[in-house]
Amino acid sequence: MKVYVDNGASTKVDGKVLKAMEPYFTEKYGNASSLHDFGRDALEGLEKARTIIAKKINASAGEIIFTSGGTESDNMAVIGAAYANKNKNHIITSAIEHPAILNTCQELEKRGFDVTYLSVDEGGFVDPKDVESAITDKTALVTIMHANNETGVIEPIEEIGKICREKGVLFHTDTVQSFTKVDINVKKMNIDMASFSSHKIHGPKGVGALYVRTGVKIKKLMYGGKHEFNLRPGTENVAGAIGFAEAVKQMKDSNVKHVTELRDKLIEGVFDSIERVKLNGPRENRLCNNVNFSYLGLEGETISTYLSMKGVATSTGSACASASLEPSHVLIAMGMKHEDAHGSIRMTLSKFTTEEEIEYILKVLPDIIKKSRRISPL
Ligand SMILES: Cc1ncc(COP(=O)(O)O)c(C=O)c1O
Repeated sequence: MKVYVDNGASTKVDGKVLKAMEPYFTEKYGNASSLHDFGRDALEGLEKARTIIAKKINASAGEIIFTSGGTESDNMAVIGAAYANKNKNHIITSAIEHPAILNTCQELEKRGFDVTYLSVDEGGFVDPKDVESAITDKTALVTIMHANNETGVIEPIEEIGKICREKGVLFHTDTVQSFTKVDINVKKMNIDMASFSSHKIHGPKGVGALYVRTGVKIKKLMYGGKHEFNLRPGTENVAGAIGFAEAVKQMKDSNVKHVTELRDKLIEGVFDSIERVKLNGPRENRLCNNVNFSYLGLEGETISTYLSMKGVATSTGSACASASLEPSHVLIAMGMKHEDAHGSIRMTLSKFTTEEEIEYILKVLPDIIKKSRRISPL
C-alpha cells in the first residue's frame, strides 16, 4: 500500500483543478496584457481567479497580488514593508516561523534592520501580550504565522491583529498552511497582508498570492512591467492562478470535518499502541491535518526510512529543512530537548486521505517503533 501523509510539504493536484487549467494551456493561452481575443480570454480568467481568492478571505479583488508561491509572498511582505517607511527599522516576528520569513528577517538584520524574534510557550503559542510589549515607534511590521507548518499550532492572530491595528503597526500573517482549513476574514482579523500558496491545497506548484490591504504601501521587490497593480512585474501565470482558484473552490467544510476525524483517529491510535510518545503541539487549536509525534529515544530519520519502506511518506521537520541534520527550530523554540526533537515525525493528511490508510499506518508503525527501539543506541 502507498500512503502519502506529507501534505504539509505538497499535495496531489485535484482532478477538477487540472480540468479547469487545461483550456489555459491549449485554447486561452494568450498573454493577459494583450488586447486581442486570446489576451482578453486570459485576462478574464485571471480576474475571475482573483475574485474567488479575494472572496474567500473577505477582501476585494484589487487587494490580491498573484506571486510564484508562499516564499515570494513572504519576501514581498517583509522586505516590502521594511523599505516602505524610512523612519522605521524594526520588525517583530516569532522564533517558529517558516524559513521564508526567518531567513528574510535575518537578511534584513544584515542590512541594518532590528528584528525581535518572540519566543513561544510549550504548546508553540505566541503570547499577544509579548507582541504588544515589543512594539516601538520604530516598528515597521509584525509578522506572525497563522498556523505552524511543523506542529499545526494555530496562533491567536485575531488578537495580534487587533493590537497591531490599535498601535498603528502593519500586521502580516503567513497563512500558507491554514488557508481553506481555518476561516480567514482579513477585515475581522485586522490583517494588513497575508501570504498564500496554491500547492498546499491541491492546486499547482509555482503560484501563490499576497493580500495587501488597500492603502498599505510596500516597496516592490522586482522591476519590469506594471502587472499586478504595479507590485509584481512579469507575465502572469494565468493557468496557475485558475488552478489555485479552483483548488480554493474545491476545499469544502466537509473536507475539514473528514480530515479532523482522521487526524484524531491517528493521534488516539498512536497513544493507544505506542509507549513513550509525545504529541508535539496542542490538541486544541491545531490544524485539522497535522499529527506530529516525538518517539522518545529514536531518530526521526530512522522511523521515516522504515515507514517509507512500508510505502508511507512522512517527513521529519519542514521539507525545506529536511536536508539539514539540525533538530527542528520550532520544537527547540517550544523548549524541547534536542534528543526528543530529533525523534519527531510529521504526518500531514489531506482530503484524499482515507480511513484505510490511517488503519494501515497504525498497523505498521508500532512494529517499526519496537524494532527501532531494540536496535537504537540511544
Ligand atoms: C508556513 C509556510 N510558509 C511558507 C512556505 C513556502 O511556500 P512555497 O512552497 O509556496 O514557497 C511554506 C511551505 O512549506 C510553509 O509551510
